[in-house]
Amino acid sequence: MKYDVEHRRIWFKGDIVDVNDAKINVLAPTSQFGLNVFEGIPCYWNEEDKQLYAFRLEDHYDRLLRSVKLLQLDCRYSKDDFKKGFIDVIKANEYDENLSVRQTLFVDGFGSWGSEGPVEMFIAPIPRGRTSAEYNKKGLKCCVTSWRRISDDNLSPRIKCGANYINSRVGQREALRNGYDTCIFLNKNGNVAEGPGSCFFMVKNGELITPKLSNSVLESITRDTIIKIARNIGITVIERTIERTELYTCDEAFLCGSAMELTPVLSIDGYTIGNGSEGDMVKELHREYLSVVRGMNKDFTDWITPIY
Ligand SMILES: Cc1ncc(COP(=O)(O)O)c(C=O)c1O
Repeated sequence: MKYDVEHRRIWFKGDIVDVNDAKINVLAPTSQFGLNVFEGIPCYWNEEDKQLYAFRLEDHYDRLLRSVKLLQLDCRYSKDDFKKGFIDVIKANEYDENLSVRQTLFVDGFGSWGSEGPVEMFIAPIPRGRTSAEYNKKGLKCCVTSWRRISDDNLSPRIKCGANYINSRVGQREALRNGYDTCIFLNKNGNVAEGPGSCFFMVKNGELITPKLSNSVLESITRDTIIKIARNIGITVIERTIERTELYTCDEAFLCGSAMELTPVLSIDGYTIGNGSEGDMVKELHREYLSVVRGMNKDFTDWITPIY
């Protein structure tokens, strides 16, 4: 049965329930300290195949389990449980549209920030409700935020946990306060790291350049996808340290992630990037990306999981 979005079904602690009935105790460490790890997993509807494809599901679950390990959570759910719940809840909603599915392991109960458990799970499909072309229509006016990205010697950006997003928040709030759409973080060494919920790429002299994974970035699945897609069509990709002033003179730039796909950056700190509109390489990579996620590129069909 199809449900209104306000009454969509979510998988919650082993049952499929109305989202309004999924309640978490206010004293749980997830509520108090953001003690949870999660994934945002994209699914794309392929109209020709009449099929919904989850994108890089295994890779999302591998990253989720790395986050579990790094935070020393006592998680009783296996990868098979993750996948079964994921497919069951999408089917329960009969979704035939593009989705972002939030799959979260959270510390429930009455413990503290030091607790290992009890670890519980919810899986909440979120209909995207728009095509990516609309989503990406205008491109982004960015600033470099004065806040530094968290780093591996205090709170690793490698861990995808709720609490890390408070660092994202302060950068994003500063950007909005100053009239920008979003921000780019530098790391503690003053080199380019990433966006608040996305990775950064720039184009210079026909080459695609992105910060290394050791430059304080999330091990982003979209970043990895773009690197592989670009190399597959003959684009040179370089992972290296990027200095701040390189941002202002690059030919093209974009932010990317499962939610935002590839979104062009049109200016940074008021410096126009390229001619101030979406660049040719961003456009080409985005087109390739949309064909890969819908299972239309034979070189990358290992990355898709049919739901129905
Ligand atoms: C800080 C940060 N960087 C990068 C990304 C992109 O990661 P992915 O491509 O795996 O969605 C995200 C996405 O949530 C993020 O929060």
